[in-house]
Amino acid sequence: MKPLFSLTSIGQVLLLLVVDSASATATTAPLFSNNTSCPDIHVFGARETTTPQGFGSAQTLINLIIKRFPGTTAEEIVYPAAGGSNYSSSVAAGIAAVVRQTGTFAAQCPDTIVIMHGYSQGAQIIDDAFCGGPDIPSLNSSTSLVSRTTTTNVAAIILMGNPRHVAGLAFNVGNATAGGFAARPVGFRCPVFESRIQAYCDSPDPFCSNGTSAETHQGYGREYGRQALDFIVSKLII
Ligand SMILES: *[C@@H]1O[C@H](CO)[C@@H](O)[C@H](O)[C@H]1NC(C)=O
Ligand SMILES: *[C@@H]1O[C@H](CO)[C@@H](O)[C@H](O)[C@H]1NC(C)=O
Ligand SMILES: *[C@@H]1O[C@H](CO)[C@@H](O)[C@H](O)[C@H]1NC(C)=O
Ligand SMILES: *[C@@H]1O[C@H](CO)[C@@H](O)[C@H](O)[C@H]1NC(C)=O
Ligand SMILES: *[C@@H]1O[C@H](CO)[C@@H](O)[C@H](O)[C@H]1NC(C)=O
Ligand SMILES: *[C@@H]1O[C@H](CO)[C@@H](O)[C@H](O)[C@H]1NC(C)=O
Repeated sequence: MKPLFSLTSIGQVLLLLVVDSASATATTAPLFSNNTSCPDIHVFGARETTTPQGFGSAQTLINLIIKRFPGTTAEEIVYPAAGGSNYSSSVAAGIAAVVRQTGTFAAQCPDTIVIMHGYSQGAQIIDDAFCGGPDIPSLNSSTSLVSRTTTTNVAAIILMGNPRHVAGLAFNVGNATAGGFAARPVGFRCPVFESRIQAYCDSPDPFCSNGTSAETHQGYGREYGRQALDFIVSKLII
C-alpha cells in the first residue's frame, strides 16, 4: 500500500505529514495543536549500551537536527542501556519506554512531527517498538507497539549501529553484509515505516555486523550525520 501524504504549513517550513498508511481511509490530523507549548518537531533519542542516561552517541545527529530546525525539542528515552547479562531485560525495558514516552507525548502534542533516533541498543529498542518483534528473549510479539498518533506523526526513524541489522532491508545504508548479533531474519519487512527509516551499518562494526572496529560503531554521527539530516529534511520539506 502506498503511503498517503497531506501538506500543511507549520511555522516557516512546509511539512509533509505522513498519513497513516495502514488505515483504509486517510484521516488528516488537525492542522494546528491548541497546546501552544507544543513544538513543530520533537526528537526522541535513545543511547547505546553502558553510556550514562542522556543521548549518548545519538547527540551528534540530534544537535544537527536542532540547528537545522530551531525550536525543535529533544527527549531522552529513559532506560537502563545495560550490557552483559542484563542486556535482554534492558532491551525489554527500553521497548516499553519508547512506547510509553512516545504515547505520552502524542497525547500532549498530537500535531507535532516526531523524529526517532536510536544508537546501537537504542536503535534496537526503537526498531522493535515500531516494527515489532519477535526479539527473543526481550519481546515475543511481532506487532508494532506504538500509538496510532505516533505511527502517523513520525516523519523519520534514524538507526545507527543497530544489532538487528541484516542485509537486504529496504532502508539499509552502509556496506555491511553480515547481520548484527540480534539480526532480523533474512527477508524481514517493516512495511508501515520502511520509507521513513534509514539504518546505518558498515562492515567493520562488531555489533551491527561482524567486524572488529569499535571506532566504526561509535563513528556514525560523524560519518553519516549530514546524510541522515538530509534524509530527515527530505521527509519534512517539499
Ligand atoms: C484543546 O485540546 C483539548 C485536548 O485535546 C480539547 O479537549 C479541547 O477541546 C481543545 N480546545 C480547543 C479550543 O480546541
Ligand atoms: C545486572 O543488574 C543487576 C541489578 O541492577 C546488577 O547488580 C548487576 O551487576 C548487573 N550485571 C551486569 C553484568 O551488568
Ligand atoms: C502541552 O505540551 C507541553 C510540551 O510538550 C506539555 O508539557 C504539556 O503537558 C501539554 N499540555 C497539555 C494540556 O497537554
Ligand atoms: C515470551 O514467551 C515465553 C514463553 O511463553 C515467556 O517465558 C517469556 O517470559 C515471554 N517473554 C516476554 C518478554 O514476554
Ligand atoms: C565499508 O565502509 C567502511 C566505512 O566507510 C570502510 O572503512 C570499510 O573499508 C568498507 N568495507 C568494505 C568491505 O568496503
Ligand atoms: C563477515 O560476514 C561476511 C558476509 O557474510 C563474510 O564474507 C566474512 O567472512 C565475515 N567475516 C568474519 C570475520 O567472520
